Amino acid sequence: MMKIGVDYYPEHWDISLWAADADLMQQTGVKLVRLAEFAWCRLEPQDGVFDFAWLDEAIDLFAERGIEVILCTPTSCPPMWLYEKHPDIVHVEKDGTPTNLGIRSHRCVTNPTFLHYADRITITMARHYADNPAVTGWQIDNELEAYFCYCEHCISKYRAWLQKKYGAIENLNKAYGNVVWSGEYSAWSQVKPPYGSLPHAWQNPAYMLDFYRFCSDNVIDFSERQAAQLREHCPGRPVTTNVWFCEHMPDFYKQFANLDFISYDNYPATRLPEDTESCYSHAFHLDMMRGVKRRPFWIMEQLSGGKGCWAPMEKPPLPGMIKGYALQAFAHGADTVVHFRWRTSNIGAEMHWHGLLDHSNVPGRRFHEFADLCKMANQLEKWQGSEIRADVAILFSFDNEYAFKIQPQTEGYYYLEQLQRLHRAFTALGLNVDIIGQHEKLDGYKIVCAPEMYVHGDGVAERLEDFARQGGTVILTTRSGVKDAHNNTVMAQLPGIYREMTGVHVVEYAPIGWESVPVIFEDGKELNVKQWCDILEADTAQVLARYNGDYFAGAVAITCNAYGKGQVYYIGAVGTQSLYDRMARMTTEEAALPVVFDLPERVEMVTRTRDDEQARFVFNNDDKPKAFQLDGREIRLAPFEMRVIETNY
Ligand code: GLA
Ligand code: ZN
Repeated sequence: MMKIGVDYYPEHWDISLWAADADLMQQTGVKLVRLAEFAWCRLEPQDGVFDFAWLDEAIDLFAERGIEVILCTPTSCPPMWLYEKHPDIVHVEKDGTPTNLGIRSHRCVTNPTFLHYADRITITMARHYADNPAVTGWQIDNELEAYFCYCEHCISKYRAWLQKKYGAIENLNKAYGNVVWSGEYSAWSQVKPPYGSLPHAWQNPAYMLDFYRFCSDNVIDFSERQAAQLREHCPGRPVTTNVWFCEHMPDFYKQFANLDFISYDNYPATRLPEDTESCYSHAFHLDMMRGVKRRPFWIMEQLSGGKGCWAPMEKPPLPGMIKGYALQAFAHGADTVVHFRWRTSNIGAEMHWHGLLDHSNVPGRRFHEFADLCKMANQLEKWQGSEIRADVAILFSFDNEYAFKIQPQTEGYYYLEQLQRLHRAFTALGLNVDIIGQHEKLDGYKIVCAPEMYVHGDGVAERLEDFARQGGTVILTTRSGVKDAHNNTVMAQLPGIYREMTGVHVVEYAPIGWESVPVIFEDGKELNVKQWCDILEADTAQVLARYNGDYFAGAVAITCNAYGKGQVYYIGAVGTQSLYDRMARMTTEEAALPVVFDLPERVEMVTRTRDDEQARFVFNNDDKPKAFQLDGREIRLAPFEMRVIETNY
């Protein structure tokens, strides 16, 4: 069964409301609640004095009604007595000032004093709930980010991290090319985190990439420390942590390697994007989360009402969105969707971030739709855990994510854009698409998109070569083979290590920012490119398109190289959506993939398979109804409707 849950905060409500809330949850079909991620001040009201009685009482109310509980460690919000006693546990800003206490998650996860208290509350809670069968899992902290902290503990840990990686300071100097601007260190004590208010671009990119990697590893250490404590003291419960696409993302592949399942906070926009392109971004993020462990995942916080608080208030979810977006997540592999939050808070900073119930506590339109979702979720039991077999994969890497942030390539250039456009192009053809780490094996795929393979990753080029040699189709793009593993540029004509397989090389590149240049295909079709133009010369590749403007008019832009039994495409520019659509049509036709050509815009489809049965999850991500033919049937979808169409195959 697809489980629907809610995020609930008993500590925010008068105790007289709890039982009525639990009753209503039970009647509505809620199967799970997540509790306590910010409740440290109530769980340990004084140093070493614990109070679990209130939480026990809340958990019992849920347990009596057959509702499972996911408990969280409350370490993202230390209590005020702890700050008073140990003011040094706060996160330190770049300019050396301790973080203002007005916001949450302001503790440093490296600080030994903080760790002492975090360990103690985690272990005490874990022991307390070890024998409580209603507690079925744990969430570590909340939305751990790879923040940069400039406290003395983080600085010494950072130096130790570098020492372990490089051994001698000379190795680090060499790896970073520190001779530039006389940056060579003669002692470890000279190594500092990036200070100052200048943009990253003023720093050495090799040094910056390691710093990003350290910040990610550092927060992952914290999460692994808690995971070990929870497993030891509350055995048999799966452990996760919830993530989102924030500014400082930890490397999700490493972060979840030792956790039991992935959970993701999913807040799709309530205002429909004007351009059809960006409406596919929800599907992109969901596919990416499934790809982190290549397994079903959870949504730990799901859109329930209009957003507010961090920005002025936005429109509430349109009719159909609450149900539709939860089912969309299910279609893409989420088996549990927990809604944030049960009721809108009447207190605190987030009182305008709306939940399922409004401030009034009177069930309204959104709540009724949620109740309907709970009913429908029960009917999906059969497809729970069914496979999502994809012929198409897109490779992602956190090194690239960090490196493109550190050195923006040209105006308007954004790492994920080409990935998203490729994803949209294949998704719009009704195909399942996996987004996976570039370290993954490629067995079983027919087409692998390897966009912007910028920073060198061990074995990645070799795996792509093998994949193509054995008959696979690879799509490589511009900004590939540019950097070694330290984030230094290589002395080779690009695409460097990808030159042999692409059969092409770059003689000059033109970062054109917002300018636009046409490219013309062999059949005379013209499409525009922006941001970047590789001026190519073919070694062994066949030319598919040439530039038709600017000083490089006539130069090669897009190629295809026969490689072993397969094909390697190279797209030397950043195209608009139509360019990727064209490439997707061309490559899927060659690979004879079962595409669906006439899906209307904003209609997405995921195919799930169990034994010899299949279901098409068809979703209308639009506020207008849609009608179309699928497998010889007429399908009509209301706005945001998800239809499950079963087929034998
Ligand atoms: C995040 C947090 C929640 C809440 C929501 C809404 O996802 O984890 O605690 O703040 O955002 O802002
Ligand atoms: Zn710190």
